[in-house]
Amino acid sequence: MCGIVGYIGVKPVKKILIDGLRELEYRGYDSAGIAILQEGHFSLFKAVGKLINLEEKAKNYESSGFSVGIGHTRWATHGKPTELNAHPHLGQNSYVVHNGIIENYQELKTMLVGHGIHFLSQTDTEVIVHLFEYLLKSAATPFDAFKQTLAQIKGAYAILLVNADAEGTIFFAKHGSPMIIGRNHDNETFFGSSDAALIGKCHEVIYLEDGHYGYASSGAIALFDEQNREVALRFTALSENKLSAQKEGYRFFMEKEIYEQSTVLSDTLMGRLRDESIYFEELETTLFDGINEIKLCACGTSYHAALVASYLFERHSKIRTSVEIASEFRYREPFLTPDTLFVVISQSGETADTLESLKMAKKFGLKTMVICNVDNSSMVRLADASILTRAGIEKGVASTKAFATQVCVLWMLSLYLAGERKTLSSSDIQHQITLLRSLPATVSVDDAIHEQLRRLSKRYLHGHGFFFIGRDVFYPLALEGALKLKEISYLHAEGYPSGEMKHGPIALADPELFTIALLPQHMLYDKTKSNIEELSARDSTICSISPLDFDKADDHICTKNAEDYMLEFFEMMVVLQLLSMEIAIRLGNDVDMPRNLAKSVTVE
Ligand code: G6P
Repeated sequence: MCGIVGYIGVKPVKKILIDGLRELEYRGYDSAGIAILQEGHFSLFKAVGKLINLEEKAKNYESSGFSVGIGHTRWATHGKPTELNAHPHLGQNSYVVHNGIIENYQELKTMLVGHGIHFLSQTDTEVIVHLFEYLLKSAATPFDAFKQTLAQIKGAYAILLVNADAEGTIFFAKHGSPMIIGRNHDNETFFGSSDAALIGKCHEVIYLEDGHYGYASSGAIALFDEQNREVALRFTALSENKLSAQKEGYRFFMEKEIYEQSTVLSDTLMGRLRDESIYFEELETTLFDGINEIKLCACGTSYHAALVASYLFERHSKIRTSVEIASEFRYREPFLTPDTLFVVISQSGETADTLESLKMAKKFGLKTMVICNVDNSSMVRLADASILTRAGIEKGVASTKAFATQVCVLWMLSLYLAGERKTLSSSDIQHQITLLRSLPATVSVDDAIHEQLRRLSKRYLHGHGFFFIGRDVFYPLALEGALKLKEISYLHAEGYPSGEMKHGPIALADPELFTIALLPQHMLYDKTKSNIEELSARDSTICSISPLDFDKADDHICTKNAEDYMLEFFEMMVVLQLLSMEIAIRLGNDVDMPRNLAKSVTVE
């Protein structure tokens, strides 16, 4: 998602900022900007789209000598990707860049507007710079005003702020979003929201902790903690290898992306949860008028997300829902009625079969929608409505965080629709919203479970195949677990509804058949348990995943006692992702680029 860079020094600042932003491009963005303060004068450049547009805008700018600069790539959350909404945001005499969300921005904005302050953008970020300048009027120093600003804003943030009265200085703060300060032997200071932006420029960095804030000026950094105590500067050496830096210490991008799910789900939820309702800024209120059926269409992992949604839409929104594999849908002469909303789901927004299905639905005159991770992709441009999943760029071919965010969006959409159709009471929706709020914590990786899976993986390298089984939404999760394992380990795996095993597949049961059983506490526990017992009685090797002990299992992965089946779903999703990854690593496979597969399949 968004990226931040900052620089204090004497080298050509424009190039340093844009080069730094380029290193953060892989995170995805839709607009960018830089602000430079030199000899008391600010220069600001912003552009929608790629960095090349920003370079074009700033092509006549040259700096010489000492300057201070901040830069940002923005992935739109509050407000559309326009130049006005792009960072840096400006006050009278100051500029700010920000990652994260200011939760109380509305209330602060109302207060500031009441004092006659004029806002230019629709972003939450702009409130920071105006609040800072408002407080500066009565503060002893700009740094005091910055401290008071931090005391008033709530939410998650990484912030850089420059002010003309504190020339040569960058104020910084970190709370919930990453921020790194680097330095080198040439007395230059750098900032980055990821160390990828600092590689090759700094030899040592400080990874700020939550609550850290301070200021940096030529050669000097002052750092404070949440209790306003000055903190000793602890630098660590910075790797020189760009690729490994982008992996941020993880062995594979897939592993990094599994661990990132907590953060990206916060992004997916950002600004969309109200107390008793779901809000999608991007949806017209009339979208569901006259709609009596939803048809979901996708490929691969996105198809599994669609299957999960079909349970949630019928359960929560009481609307007829069907699911189509795009490559089948295209050629089977489907019967379509105009009261159907056609929803495609795609991480890339470019998958050929899904795109063609979308075109077909449009030709039939259906209303269309896409749930997608890539803004401006072909599907987003084509569909009548779109919801972005905000997973950031996914590099591992085996999809992980994209799936998590798709299911999250679809869950929210089922509640949005339940609100529109009045099929759930507001207290039920409120309860579901509380569950959604706990998603980031639910998917954060438990070190003990990861370690257990690492050890366990050695027992699951051979045999004649895997069955992943589950019921209800755990059936599509079983399909997804099996697909993950197939994709990266090249072992044979199938997903099945647990109740279906006895109708044929159980004939394969023997000790060399591995059953990965999803046994949630809050969804058909007894029914699923009986199905697993049937397999265990036929000597299949069982690995159960459940918060409750299960004595018929050969291996048992004990998940948390979550209060709802959807939270169990997300926790088990992480377990399945890690299990397949650990098996693939033991087999020596290239986890990020498995054989024969492509990340974006643009041929049918
Ligand atoms: C490819 C990828 C899968 C993905 C599928 C659909 O097969 O390897 O990970 O699920 O395409 O892609 P989409 O971008 O449409 O979600």
